[in-house]
Parts: sequence; structure tokens; C-alpha cells
Amino acid sequence: MNYDIADASLAGEGARRIEWSGRRMPVLATIRERFRAEKPLDGKRVAACLHVTAETANLMLALRDGGAEVSLCASNPLSTQDDVAAALVADGIPVFAVRGEDDDRYYSHINAVLDTNPHLTMDDGADLVTVLHKERRDVNPIGSTEETTTGVIRLRAMAEEGMLRLPVVAVNDSATKHLFDNRYGTGQSSLDGVLRATNMLLAGSNVVVAGYGDCGQGVATRADGMGAKVIVVESDPIRALSAAMDGYRVMTADDAAAAGDLFITVTGDKHVFRARHFDKMKDGAILANAGHFDVEIDLEALAESAVARREVRRNLEEFELADGRRIMVIAEGRLVNLSAAEGHPADVMDMSFADQALAAEWLVQNHEALVPGVYTIPDELDQNVALIKLGHLGGAVEQLTDEQVEYLRSWQEGT
Ligand code: NAI
Repeated sequence: MNYDIADASLAGEGARRIEWSGRRMPVLATIRERFRAEKPLDGKRVAACLHVTAETANLMLALRDGGAEVSLCASNPLSTQDDVAAALVADGIPVFAVRGEDDDRYYSHINAVLDTNPHLTMDDGADLVTVLHKERRDVNPIGSTEETTTGVIRLRAMAEEGMLRLPVVAVNDSATKHLFDNRYGTGQSSLDGVLRATNMLLAGSNVVVAGYGDCGQGVATRADGMGAKVIVVESDPIRALSAAMDGYRVMTADDAAAAGDLFITVTGDKHVFRARHFDKMKDGAILANAGHFDVEIDLEALAESAVARREVRRNLEEFELADGRRIMVIAEGRLVNLSAAEGHPADVMDMSFADQALAAEWLVQNHEALVPGVYTIPDELDQNVALIKLGHLGGAVEQLTDEQVEYLRSWQEGT
């Protein structure tokens, strides 16, 4: 079996962490049990490009139980958990991922999973699909899935230009993914990353959240809950207004730059904070990014204006500027929750990866009727994931009576 990982001796620790995550993923476990009996992916090769975490490992095991032959590479050079990679290899799953790998190795790993000539691919950020379109036209999967907002935006752009050559399920667009993973997962785990890298006190700090989408709303809520004074920077008027009515100060990036102690970007956009903002920041300002790519903070500009750089703590780099101010950047501006912490809690990845497993099954069942384009899994599947999760949280939904169903559908009945 081909693979490329950092250290096979870490397999024991990885296996323990995979088991622990698995216990907190009851929806995926339900699907896995059904997959084991029904084998909906029988004989299908699946090449996945996802963050190599304990939760992803549980998805890989569920797909394998469904009959698939899986291989896995990283979707970010800094998010790989080397112990998990080792455990999967020990369990017979080829993994190509090493935490801290350079760009060449990262892309050689994407090519390695594509070398398996997969029937299905899974992506987080569309790097694999981009390689598939630009370099590997020899590989022709029946379909693919996409995990995150940034990836879905890239895929829609490809579809609009008529470039997309396969059907892709936008897993991110399922309600049980983006309303929970992006909000509660990113909210909690991004602050976890900031705290592990800095051990700063959030209470009383001015925390600037750039981007008030699903992720930004989660980050702002959690920072607020820990006593921070939250400032939102947002370019969309409706979302900016929502932030104002949620009780936050809403400012331009210029004004926020001068006020913030901690900055978290989560926009999916580039150069949200750049030279003109660094010029205004306080001595000791800390920057982190939770958006998919490491482009949200203009690190090149920061490096150019720095007279000295050093690592002050693990995952925390200090840039000293000519006027003596020091600006700190967490984990090279890469996804802070995955680079400086462990990523989203398993409890929320449970739903995201249940959606991934269902999307793979749906593609196998329906691919013959699909043309290249971006799809979502049917609402019933999404709602069923929510129902199972709610049950595990001890909740139950109200059943409408026939009379109520009829009333909600009708227009004749008035006051
Ligand atoms: P979204 O599209 O719902 O929200 C992004 C918001 O940023 C929008 O409201 C947009 O108007 C705003 N925005 C864009 N450019 C801006 C700028 N220059 N200044 C201020 N505001 C700006 O997207 P979502 O779902 O919140 O995702 C955001 C990013 O986080 C994406 O890159 C996504 O892939 C990534 N993501 C990261 C996760 C993680 O684990 N860290 C998990 C899920 C998503």
C-alpha cells in the first residue's frame, strides 16, 4: 500500500482519538451501521481531500464500511493530525498527509489520491477539483462533494464559465452543515485556537470579527459570551445591520484596526487587513484567520514592513515594525481552529460528515441522471440528519395535526 505520513509510531494515540471522536458522532454511526448492512458504495474508489482529523477518520471508516476503497490527502498543509494519519494507515487506509508539508508535497499528495482513478472525489476548498480540471483530465469521477463555502463559490464560478465537468454536491449548502458546523463549530474552535496560541483573556478585550456570515456570527457570539467587546467589520449592508441589532459595534476596517486587540478574519475574501490597517494597529495587536485560505491577512505586506520577526510562542509569530510596534500573527494566518487547535468538535462534524456520506451515496444512486453542475442533497435527507441529531440531544419535534397541515397550505380560511 502506498502512503506518505510523518510517523507511523503515532498510530496508537491516533486510534484513541479516532475512537473518542466516534463516540461523539451518533448520526454518522447510524449511517455507518446502515452502510455496513447495505454496502451502497460497493466497489467504488473514493479519493478524499479533507482536513486529516479524527472526525474525518470516522467518515473514512464509514465509507469503507459502505463498501468503498478510500484514500485520503490533506486539504490544508497545517491541519493534518499526524497521529490520525498514522492510525488510518495502520488500519489499511492509504493517507498522503504530513503536517507542515510544503506546497510541492501538498500537491503531490493530491495527485497521489487521484492516481487511484477514483469513482468519487471529496473536497474541502476545491483544491482537488481544481487539479482535476487543470492537470488531471485523465481522471473522470462520476461526481464529487464539496465541504466548505469557499469551495462552493469556486465551483459555482467554474459552472458559470461552463468549465465544470462533473456533478458536485455542495455539502456546505445543506442546512445541517452550514447552520451548525460554520456557526457553532467555527465559533467555538476558532476561539480555542486563539486561546491555545496566546492564553489571552477575552473578557474586556476588543475583538474584531471581519465577516458576519455563518462563521463570523458564531465567532462573535462566542467571543461576546466570554466577555469580549465585539466589533464587526462587514461589507454586506444586511449582515452589517444584523450585527448592529445583535448588539455589536459595526465599523469600517480602518476604524476597527485602531480599536482592536484581537482580529479574526472569516470572510472568504483576500487582504481584509493589509498595510493601511497594520499602520493603525496598537502595539501587541493579535491577528488570526478562520477563513478557508491564508489570504485574508496580507502577510507579505506585514513581512515587508517588519524590521524583525520571531516566534514568541508555539503558533504565534511576532512582527516588529520600524516604529517599535509589535503585531502578532497566529499559525501563519492559516485556519486558526485547525492549525492552532483540533478543529471543530466531533459533535458538530457528526452532521457535516453524515451529509458527506449521504452525498456520496446519493451521487452513486443518481449520477447517470445528473449533468455537470452544483447540487444539494434532497431536503428530506437534510431533515432526517437534523431529526436524528435532535433525538440524541434529547429533543423532539412537534407533529402537526392534519388540520394544521391543511391550514398551512390553504389561503381561503381567514380570521
Ligand atoms: P459567508 O459567505 O456566509 O460569510 C462571509 C461574510 O464575509 C459575508 O457576509 C461577506 O459579505 C463578508 N465579507 C466578504 N469580504 C469582506 C471584506 N473584505 N470585509 C468585510 N466583510 C467581508 O461565509 P461563511 O460560511 O461564514 O465562511 C467564511 C469563510 O470561512 C469561508 O472561507 C469558508 O470556507 C470558511 N470556513 C471555515 C471553517 C473553519 O473551520 N475555520 C468552517 C466553515 C467555513
